[in-house]
Amino acid sequence: MTAELPTIALPGTGDRVPRIGQGTWRMEQDDRRDCIQTLRHGVDLGATLIDTAEMYGSGTVEEIVGEALDGIREEVFLTSKILPRNADREGTVEACERSLRRLDTDHLDLYLLHWPSSHPIEETMAGFRELLDEGLVRSVGVSNCSLEQFVAADEALGPDHDLVTDQVLYWLGSRNVENELLGGLREREVPLMAYSPLGQAEFPDEGTPPHDALSAIADDHGATIAQVMLAWVLRHEDVFTIPKTSSIDHLEENLAAAEIELRAEDLERLDEVYPATDSSRIPTL
Ligand SMILES: NC(=O)c1ccc[n+]([C@@H]2O[C@H](COP(=O)([O-])OP(=O)(O)OC[C@H]3O[C@@H](n4cnc5c(N)ncnc54)[C@H](OP(=O)(O)O)[C@@H]3O)[C@@H](O)[C@H]2O)c1
Repeated sequence: MTAELPTIALPGTGDRVPRIGQGTWRMEQDDRRDCIQTLRHGVDLGATLIDTAEMYGSGTVEEIVGEALDGIREEVFLTSKILPRNADREGTVEACERSLRRLDTDHLDLYLLHWPSSHPIEETMAGFRELLDEGLVRSVGVSNCSLEQFVAADEALGPDHDLVTDQVLYWLGSRNVENELLGGLREREVPLMAYSPLGQAEFPDEGTPPHDALSAIADDHGATIAQVMLAWVLRHEDVFTIPKTSSIDHLEENLAAAEIELRAEDLERLDEVYPATDSSRIPTL
């Protein structure tokens, strides 16, 4: 990996973040040293966007990330997420303060509502405003929200701030966001953050049409199947993504995917084996 990672600008703050960052879900199940070494190596290579959540390992993953950030906090664009059940006004502020303690930092660069909550969105957004005003978070967004839910949350946030992204499931095998959300965010100049871009490593079995298509395209580009999957998500300029890995080899492989440009015939072949859907429902994991 030699080339610099491409970046994308977020609305409001104008912060630039790498189009490939680092996810952390289920890292508590991996070797702690591998996680920390991989996250730090990723930052060295420019993957300075790290995504975590209070839910991951019930706080353990935020602690792992906090340890990984020792001495390099300023280089990182740190994102965490609040559990919907905590997301009333006061609970939002308290949950963020707990996350900051676990992450051993005084602010988050981005704080997301993990998925739509039974608390009124006005409450959550009031909590988000308080966190923004106090400087505990630099920007806010949502996750797993439809366009309608995104717009309602953005309105509830008020005129002084904008939601900077919607983090949603998007990979070859799950394309619903293409129908309404992606275009709606694009009109508002809001980039989409794609999670599980590798389909959680559920790669197709050898001998199946999706596997044959992916491996033929990968061979043409001198790439791997995982890299083709990432390049496919990144074919939209206003999408960025956060594959998770605790392996330095996988990390380097994933970041190199930023250099792959799929051709029209590759995309057509992938459309055949991973057809677009006509549903706008936002699936969650
Ligand atoms: N907002 C939400 O509701 C939500 C939901 C899900 C995920 N997320 C976020 O998005 C991140 C990414 O999604 P994800 O973790 O669900 O799935 P993912 O990134 O699609 O896949 C992760 C899996 O792929 C493996 N992997 C990574 N690179 C690989 C490579 N080059 N070759 C082969 N295997 C590879 C990883 O194992 P190794 O570690 O062994 O490499 C891991 O098992 C999460 O970690 C989390 O931060 C958010």
